[in-house]
Amino acid sequence: MTETDFRMSMERARELREQIALYDYQYYVMDAPTIPDSEYDTLFRELQDIEARHPEWITVDSPTRRVGGQPRTGFREVQHQIPMLSLANGFTEEDIRHFDRRVRDDLGMGEVEYACEPKFDGLAVSLVYDRGILVEGSTRGDGTTGEEVTANLRTIAAIPLRLPQDPPPERLEIRGEVLMLKKDFEALNETQALEGEKLFVNPRNAAAGALRQLDSRLTARRPLFFYAYGVGETVGFSLPDTHSGLLDQLVSLHFPVAIQRRVVMGAEGLLGFFSELQAMRESLPYQVDGVVYKVNHLPLQETLGFVSRAPRFAIAHKFPAEEALSEVLQIEIQVGRTGVLTPVARLKPVFVGGVTVTNATLHNEDEVQRKDVRVGDHVWIRRAGDVIPEVVSVIKDRRPVGTHLFRMPEQCPVCGSAVAREEGEAASRCTGGLYCQAQRKQALLHFSQRRAMNIDGLGDKLVDALVDSGLVKTAPDLYQLTVEQLLSLPRMGLKSAENLLAAIEKSRFTTLARFIFSLGIRHVGEATARDLAGYLGGLEPLMIATEEDLQCVPDVGPVVSGSLRQFFCEPHNREVIQRLLALGVHWPASSQGEQAGLRPLQGKSLVLTGTLPHMGREEAKARIEAAGGRVTASVSRRTDFLVAGEAAGNKLDQAKALGVAVLDESQLMSLLEKKHT
Ligand code: IVH
Repeated sequence: MTETDFRMSMERARELREQIALYDYQYYVMDAPTIPDSEYDTLFRELQDIEARHPEWITVDSPTRRVGGQPRTGFREVQHQIPMLSLANGFTEEDIRHFDRRVRDDLGMGEVEYACEPKFDGLAVSLVYDRGILVEGSTRGDGTTGEEVTANLRTIAAIPLRLPQDPPPERLEIRGEVLMLKKDFEALNETQALEGEKLFVNPRNAAAGALRQLDSRLTARRPLFFYAYGVGETVGFSLPDTHSGLLDQLVSLHFPVAIQRRVVMGAEGLLGFFSELQAMRESLPYQVDGVVYKVNHLPLQETLGFVSRAPRFAIAHKFPAEEALSEVLQIEIQVGRTGVLTPVARLKPVFVGGVTVTNATLHNEDEVQRKDVRVGDHVWIRRAGDVIPEVVSVIKDRRPVGTHLFRMPEQCPVCGSAVAREEGEAASRCTGGLYCQAQRKQALLHFSQRRAMNIDGLGDKLVDALVDSGLVKTAPDLYQLTVEQLLSLPRMGLKSAENLLAAIEKSRFTTLARFIFSLGIRHVGEATARDLAGYLGGLEPLMIATEEDLQCVPDVGPVVSGSLRQFFCEPHNREVIQRLLALGVHWPASSQGEQAGLRPLQGKSLVLTGTLPHMGREEAKARIEAAGGRVTASVSRRTDFLVAGEAAGNKLDQAKALGVAVLDESQLMSLLEKKHT
């Protein structure tokens, strides 16, 4: 290599370092890359090549050196030349007005200018630049002594390794916050989940863990970010007059500084900024736990000075914490209006997100098992904005002995009906839809709607009143209501009471399809109810049909048939149905073959007695069987119809005694003929 080549190549390395640092700044800090990734990679590799040939040229600020070195056994202690202080906290409007009053009094001023900025929820660090080169980075520690984590901080692409200023200040200490952006946190947790690794509780914890890694190669794999909010020690650096001016200067030195910063006047200005930032809290790219107000003029800051460990010129106005620690006292099950069972953690009361929280949702069985939440566990609770508080995670190390894995109950805690969970569904449901108190209002509204039992005037207000007053628990109770009872309801007049009773009375006579629909069986809509009525011909066959039988009905698959079986297997539901029938809910036989080409006596049991002059017993038997019915010899409770011909004997008496419907020959014939309509 000639002398010229040598110098050119050395110069090229310097140029590459500068270019790459700029592209890093544009990409990581400005979020606005100016060259394609492939081009960046080419430049990066070119620099790596030169450095491989000339290791003696490698500089500490080379972008290829962000990650390197060996894992260490511990962190060295660092004394902060200027202590890293904490901030006084304010929580209420009054606290802030008080702060402003005190500042004005101390300064003897009428109105004071403040610089406002977000309070980042991360970890405070100090970055020392010696003649423009990052030489030492440390954590805040106790404010006086921190831990030296330079190698880890160097992996953060948003932190300049060299200040873009010529000549550089002799010494400049930048202070700011290391954090993980929300989007990076979510992506990280997604990867963790895919790899079966444990999830991080929140961005702050993930950042804290990463920053304290003894092996900086591990830190480098965690996407950390940095925001500058001030300076510490300065030598040969001319400070501006104001904090806002200082932040602008940090921007020109390529440090990320929150764009959500503003200069305001007086307490009103502070409170205005607070509301504004609170409103955008969720949409900010990073987590904040409040805002910070600082007297803007640096000389005034100096006048105000410090008390104990906090400046008198600044205050943090905190948002209500969104996450807090609590303990699970109990896991209870709530049953919703639609029968969905939701596990809910009863908690030791904790103040989070501005309110005291005593319960948090655990969503469903899978969620509880995924997080493995148990009674007795210490848990992180989160409540953001108006959302329902939830259990974020369990602190497994603090689990007491003798805890048990959570199991969803097999019986509904409200009504005791069986609980079922459909394949591929997260929700567990109570199958006692007709009976369950939790589902009463929903069930009654469904039952009475126009397309179901069509009880005119029975809307949600009235259903609420009837259920809340205890007059109606399940649908059959409707048919036993009296005018007097209705008059006891608020805003119920005689006319309305009579109208309602008339509408209820009218609904007793319905069709089988409407009746089936009115039961509110999951997955059984109007059309399915019509198909079921048509194909099965009666309620009894529907109630006893196997899933296989049910799947013979067009459009009825395993989901619908499974739901039907569950519903009719639940004794509570059967009881309610029996009561409805006993109270006179009925439908014409003709509606049992609403569809053409059906077997009108499908599943029916008939007994013949006496002489049938037109058909004769043999023909009658054959035609009944062809229509899907069965002819049996003796009358029992299970008999659907007794067909009584001339000179009928004691079977007629038995049928009457048992309440079995009696048909004469012509009625039988018209029933059979339904087949042709
Ligand atoms: S200024 C002398 N500005 O809050 C004032 N601190 O309680 C020093 N923090 O440890 C702090 N965002 O980690 C300042 N915009 C901000 C901040 C901020 C977050 C943290 C910082 C410090 C703590 C003080």
